[in-house]
Amino acid sequence: MTKIAIVYFSASGHTQQVAEAVAEGARSVVGTEVSMLRIVGEDIKDGRWNNDGIIAELNAADGIIFGTPTYMGGYSAQFKAFIDACGGIWYHQGWKDKVGAGFTHSQGLSGDKLNTLAGLVINAMQHSMIWVGTGLMPQGATPEKINRLSSYSGAMSQSNMDQANIGDGDRETAVLLGKRVAETTVRWNR
Ligand SMILES: Cc1cc2nc3c(=O)[nH]c(=O)nc-3n(C[C@H](O)[C@H](O)[C@H](O)COP(=O)(O)O)c2cc1C
Repeated sequence: MTKIAIVYFSASGHTQQVAEAVAEGARSVVGTEVSMLRIVGEDIKDGRWNNDGIIAELNAADGIIFGTPTYMGGYSAQFKAFIDACGGIWYHQGWKDKVGAGFTHSQGLSGDKLNTLAGLVINAMQHSMIWVGTGLMPQGATPEKINRLSSYSGAMSQSNMDQANIGDGDRETAVLLGKRVAETTVRWNR
């Protein structure tokens, strides 16, 4: 079995929906097992995130897909606390050669989401992971279109303030990212 872990933070549920779509895509690949690992603020004490169960799942995974909303043009603080808590793993290069990928959701069409994805890529490079982008040509810019936000380094999605559910195009983009990462990880393990 190829193990894919999706580790993400979501406060108001949009990034959660993206994570579920990514999981759906990854699960569609035969021989893939997916775990959904949600970062929560309750796991942060005195500014430090700790959850041994999540770390154990990540250490056991062949591929890790990171997801966070864009807050103030970057990671949410909760997600950054998780990233920083993985510094000890970095020190021993414990995630070296695992496959990595990422996604971010925000309210603005841009909203400076690229900076968040760049942070995810750099973090993965520090861990010596193998980064997988979307591999998707944009099908157009309207909400039902795949990769409408033209993002290659990771999946971007966007919702308006009064919008409860993510749009179909963003959802499908996330499904395809999950599928691509799972397929790549199966090939890489072979
Ligand atoms: C503190 C804070 C900062 C935010 N900063 C940005 C931003 O820089 N760009 C943007 O497009 N949206 C920004 N937003 C909007 C969120 O990205 C949006 O509400 C998103 O849906 C949150 O994800 P979630 O529903 O998974 O919690 C911000 C929201 C909060 C609460």
